[in-house]
Amino acid sequence: MRVVIQENYENMCKWAADYIAAKIKSHNNGSEKDRPFVLGLPTGSSPIGVYKELARQNQEGELSFANVVTFNMDEYIGLPHEHDQSYWYFMHDNFFDHLVDMKPESINILNGMTDDPEEECRKYEAKIASYGGIDLFMGGIGVDGHIAFNEPFTSLASRTGVRDLTTDTRIVNGRFFDNDPEKVPAQALSVGVGTVTDSKEVLILINGHNKARALAATVEGPVSHKWTCSALQLHNGAIIACDEAACGELTVDTYKYFLDIEKKERI
Ligand code: GLP
Repeated sequence: MRVVIQENYENMCKWAADYIAAKIKSHNNGSEKDRPFVLGLPTGSSPIGVYKELARQNQEGELSFANVVTFNMDEYIGLPHEHDQSYWYFMHDNFFDHLVDMKPESINILNGMTDDPEEECRKYEAKIASYGGIDLFMGGIGVDGHIAFNEPFTSLASRTGVRDLTTDTRIVNGRFFDNDPEKVPAQALSVGVGTVTDSKEVLILINGHNKARALAATVEGPVSHKWTCSALQLHNGAIIACDEAACGELTVDTYKYFLDIEKKERI
């Protein structure tokens, strides 16, 4: 695991956007350029700065999304696309609508209004597999360490499926629903922990004081379904991009180790 510690949120987002851009460009210049680059994407406040920077690079002609296929992590059950808190709406509002060459048919987001959630999830996994898997999954993390909507005690081998949201998550996400946790949908469709860790690379954004326990659990904690983020320790290409504020619960040794070793790393 790499842990890339940046001074603040802006720097973390710039680093992550540059990393993703470099991966897309190297794919498009490499031997596999005839197939699309498959990118997994999250919602939440953490990736917003990354989306802004990627969109800027795209608008200024530095980075093309014409050969990129995306799969989003999750979607609330029961919110239509036009609901301003649906993840479909979020992704278009914060990212896809700002790209000049993203093909609409290359965007994949779970349909939270489906009549058959099991079939929707099965088809999603099959579609990911049809592309040969995900090249790079960018993710965020909940304060309880959830990846996508894989709450504590979700199997670390889980696949795309229906998830019950915990009271804690509904309280945290209530800030987007008039501060009323009851208005937050009780269920979501979500890729599994196993879906994320099957990706060739995983890049997780962890920023802010409120994520300090989750960062420590991801990096130092035992691998445990209590903190589903800890499954990343078993992945061979996991990168955590974080800011200083999130480092408060790391031991001094861990913090110094990653600062030191990353001086030698290059994108
Ligand atoms: C939601 C999403 C997660 C996301 C998390 C953190 O629960 N389902 O995928 O990582 O929020 O959001 P934020 O980045 O706003 O802290």
